This record gives sequence, structure tokens and C-alpha cells, in this order.
Amino acid sequence: MARTFFVGGNFKMNGSKESIKTIVAGLNEASLPSDVEVVIAPPAPYLQYAAELVTAPTVTVAAQNSFDKLSGAYTGEIAVNQILDVGAKWVILGHSERRTILKETDEFIASKTDVALANGLGVILCIGETLDERNAGTTLDVVNTQMDAVIAKISDWSKVVVAYEPVWAIGTGLAATPEDAEKVHAAIREHFAAKVGAEAAAALRIIYGGSVNGKNAATFNACENIDGYLVGGASLKPEFIDIVKSRE
Ligand code: 13P
Repeated sequence: MARTFFVGGNFKMNGSKESIKTIVAGLNEASLPSDVEVVIAPPAPYLQYAAELVTAPTVTVAAQNSFDKLSGAYTGEIAVNQILDVGAKWVILGHSERRTILKETDEFIASKTDVALANGLGVILCIGETLDERNAGTTLDVVNTQMDAVIAKISDWSKVVVAYEPVWAIGTGLAATPEDAEKVHAAIREHFAAKVGAEAAAALRIIYGGSVNGKNAATFNACENIDGYLVGGASLKPEFIDIVKSRE
């Protein structure tokens, strides 16, 4: 079963109306491949703005976080329905910056994933090991444990894209090698198949994130289990379009 290639742009806490307008105009004006799904994730204040600017048919908008309650006294949190209401279709959950800086647990991320999916958002679910965990040889234990928390909570994975983002590769300029990334992606898919089923595993998109740029993206082209990228820094630059086109 062919998995649609997926390229996400995580702007993190960067940008302004002016810069987001420029990025979206670049995407709208580029002749993007029709078989690549592109999702851009601006900071929350710009979700509606970005969603209204997008005209490219393959581009949609994601939030960078959502809460596991739908409304109420949760100061500062963002509800799934509010994200949908302003025109976004996806949410990034479990990003390592939220796991480490905001101390989000596997269980909380699973709960947020459950609520997001149940209310109509697609979820870009981030997993990945730290450098210490990698050096200790526990990469697969870490990512499988992160996956297991969500596997225990949800049954329909059709609206989930898993982003494998080794923490040591994020923002460092040191991307995983295609060989290393492919090995981990294949292992994630194998573990998922054992837990959830072969059919769901064959359909699950597992994308790579961590220092992907316009130059190295195509080096992953031969990796069977890499179904796209989650791009940080380079998603703010014109080279994001090169990444979207990297399979051409
Ligand atoms: P960089 O592409 O800047 O390394 O960031 C990756 C990332 O964290 C995307 O979510």
C-alpha cells in the first residue's frame, strides 16, 4: 500500500505575520508535487491567519499543541475544537521540546492524542531518544515505550503520522544518517505491527525529523520506511520547498 509522502514544517516559537505571509506565499506560488501532503505549523496566534492565506491544494495547517479537555478553566491551553474552528486540520503532539521543557509525560501525550483524534484533528505524534539514551543503546526501548503509551489509548491510527525525531538531531545540524534513521523507522513499524497489526503498520506514515534541510532531504530517498519529514529551522526558509520536492 502506497503511503502518501508527508512533509511538515514546525515553525516552533518563530515568526510574525509578515514572515508567515512570505512563507505561505512561497508555497502558494511554487508548483508543489500533487502527491506530497504538506502541513505547516505556525505558532498558535497565527493559525487562522496562515489557514486563510493558504491556497495551495496540498497544504494544510497544524497547531503545535492542544489540550486533553475540550473547554473550561484551563488558562493558556488550546482546545481541539478551537484549532479546527480557525481552519487547522492537524496538531503536533509529543514534541521533545514539550516532553523535556514542559515535562509532558507519555500518558499525558497519549491522552491529548486520544482527544485530538476523537474530535477530528489529525495528529503528528513525535517520539525520539536523547543522546544519552542513544549512547546507552536504549533507542528502541525509548521509542517503543513512547509508542506503547499511545497504543494503549487509541485504536484508530489512520489520522496519525508518527514523527521519529532523535533529540540529538534536532536543531544541531547533525541529522541522523539515512541508514541509522531507516533502521529505527523499520523497528518502529515492526513493533507497531506486532502490537496493532500488519495492515495498520503498512499504512502508518513514519516521518523523520532532525536537521533536515534542502540539501540532505534527498539522501533519505532510498529509505523504504521513511515517509516524509518534520522540518524545524529549514521550514522557515525557501529551502522548505526543496524538501517538499525532494522525492521528484
Ligand atoms: P530542526 O529541523 O530545526 O532540527 O527541528 C526539527 C524539529 O524539531 C521538528 O519538529
